[in-house]
Amino acid sequence: MSSFAIIGGDAHPQLARRLAQEAGAPMVPATVARFADGETRVRIEGDVSGADLYLVQPTSPPVNEHLMSLALLADAARAAGAARITAVVPYFGYARQDARKAPGEPRSAQLACRLLECAGVQRFVALELHSPALDSAFHMPLHPLDADPVAVPAIRAWGLEALAIVAPDAGGLKRAQRYAAALRAPLSVVTKTRTGADASAALALLGEVRGRNCVIVDDLVSTGGTLAGAAKALRGAGAASVHAFFVHAVMAPEALERLAAAGVQRLVTTDSVAFAPRAGLEVISVAPLLGEAIKKLRSGAAPSPS
Ligand code: R5P
Repeated sequence: MSSFAIIGGDAHPQLARRLAQEAGAPMVPATVARFADGETRVRIEGDVSGADLYLVQPTSPPVNEHLMSLALLADAARAAGAARITAVVPYFGYARQDARKAPGEPRSAQLACRLLECAGVQRFVALELHSPALDSAFHMPLHPLDADPVAVPAIRAWGLEALAIVAPDAGGLKRAQRYAAALRAPLSVVTKTRTGADASAALALLGEVRGRNCVIVDDLVSTGGTLAGAAKALRGAGAASVHAFFVHAVMAPEALERLAAAGVQRLVTTDSVAFAPRAGLEVISVAPLLGEAIKKLRSGAAPSPS
């Protein structure tokens, strides 16, 4: 399979361009637009026949729009004769709905995977998937990447004395454990309970944080409620300072203010999704990490998760 190409969807063209540079791949232009009735219209504007094609598209908000345009691009690429289609999805929306939590609910993550498979996606590269359990949702080969190579050096560079790494809920424990081990820092966890579809309350703190500079690590911020609750619990337990690193900034507009009000001094995230620059939010690019993964896949090797 000789020709190699990247197509950026409508969710994050800037990251797609950076990724193409990192991976040394030509970009094939594609248009994503809307018909008057709201339906999505896509068109691949170049030759992808026989190509080893990488479609770059986080399915970030508006999630349904971005998921559908990714599926349509895959279908268009298959119809145009692409030899292999790999979706590179820096943020996978619907990933938090991977299990039925109550009768009458769907398994939305599984459905989103099936949609993309039906559309022609043959391999899936994902960054910081919400849960390892999602593996079973994919029938195609899945290459999950952790953001550790980006996060750990960034946190180390802050040079915080008496560092502690904190998981803001039990679901984030494994990630926080990895960071704590890499940074040789003690680990704490805040237990949390959901009080609504988009609301949670912090319950208890396990681990000693008094006098420590705490870094909360999480996969994403949406409403900011989880991180704010954890920050309050840490401050209440005598933490010297509270900072946060999260991978996906799928933030509601008020999330940053909420986090500042909860006493989070430093907020660092990545460019896995597109958002307008916001004062007080540092951003590290994941383009080198994803570019390396594409290069490995091109060479026939599987990218290592972390
Ligand atoms: C939850 O399990 C996730 O890891 C995040 O902690 C959560 O989804 C963040 O959402 P929010 O910012 O709305 O609390």
